[in-house]
Amino acid sequence: MKALVLSGGTGSRLRPITHTSAKQLVPVANKAVLFYGLESLADAGITEVGIIVGDTAAEIEEAVGDGSKFGLQITYIPQDRPLGLAHAVLIAREYLGDDDFVMYLGDNFIVGGITGLVEGFQANKPDAQILLTHVPDPRSFGVAELSESGQVIGLEEKPEHPKSDLALVGVYLFTPAIHDAVRAIKPSWRGELEITHAIQQLIDDGADVRSSVIHGYWKDTGNVVDMLEVNRTVLESMDRRIDGEVDDASETIGRVVIEEGARIERSRIVGPVIIGSGTVVSDSYVGPFTSVAENCKITDSELEFSIVLQDSSIAGVGRIESSLIGKHVEVTPAPGVPSAHRLVLGDHSKVQIRS
Ligand code: G1P
Repeated sequence: MKALVLSGGTGSRLRPITHTSAKQLVPVANKAVLFYGLESLADAGITEVGIIVGDTAAEIEEAVGDGSKFGLQITYIPQDRPLGLAHAVLIAREYLGDDDFVMYLGDNFIVGGITGLVEGFQANKPDAQILLTHVPDPRSFGVAELSESGQVIGLEEKPEHPKSDLALVGVYLFTPAIHDAVRAIKPSWRGELEITHAIQQLIDDGADVRSSVIHGYWKDTGNVVDMLEVNRTVLESMDRRIDGEVDDASETIGRVVIEEGARIERSRIVGPVIIGSGTVVSDSYVGPFTSVAENCKITDSELEFSIVLQDSSIAGVGRIESSLIGKHVEVTPAPGVPSAHRLVLGDHSKVQIRS
């Protein structure tokens, strides 16, 4: 069994983090989303992985390399333009040969991995298997309609009026039957060859397409609250590990990871927290559910339930909470701001202001 990992796309959507880099490299607990996907493929016993790359190919190749650090053999397959997920299968035809394969969208995050799913697929051998999850707003996903017995009746891509709240998760298990299906379909209204349509084609041809509903799914939709939440979930399952330096005037409590090369001085770190290598935390408090990436400086500040990306500094600003801070950011106190509050308050407001 092989894997086809999709890591193309233009990365141009104006999200707080992805407008400057590949969406598959968005970090969760200081590790790129794509890396969790690659690790779960390796855990499922897959070694041969083709990665489809687009505009951000250089960045992806630099991060993943030849795959040996994951125990994988990676082959990069360039896609000139983002012409759809089924188009990716089309151009990977030669690489995939006549093997079964997992197609894994590199910006999807499945808590708990996919080992059980891969084993189930290999044991039952349907023609294809899809994963579904309940989402609050299915309109930005592929959506499945199931019969009472749980059979997939129909699939629609980003429907305006979804027939269920079951979204297609970006992990699909295919046999070579999918190759005829991707050749049979036409581009959608958005000009893409949709994998959703190819799977519908399989269903129409009478193939055995099964589905399973999973929990613990996340995809970067540019939503900061969601991102902080998935970061929290992953941090909660980490084991404590102190490889960096913590001075005698500091305290680390609970699930705390201090990477090698990080330094904690006169500070209090209350887990779950991860501090990346090269980062210096001094005279500060870092509280639960916080990831601070590599080479940051946190000085004389308090930070909780937040994500800070590489090479950023936060100094002398008091408390920061529920925040997402990008790369190479500087947060400093504003000099000489007049101490006046500007308010627009409705009738019967009750406001507490620190005096
Ligand atoms: C793609 C698929 C969609 C699926 C989603 C999951 O959407 O077309 O069916 O639900 O991935 O991530 P896209 O990311 O291309 O908008």
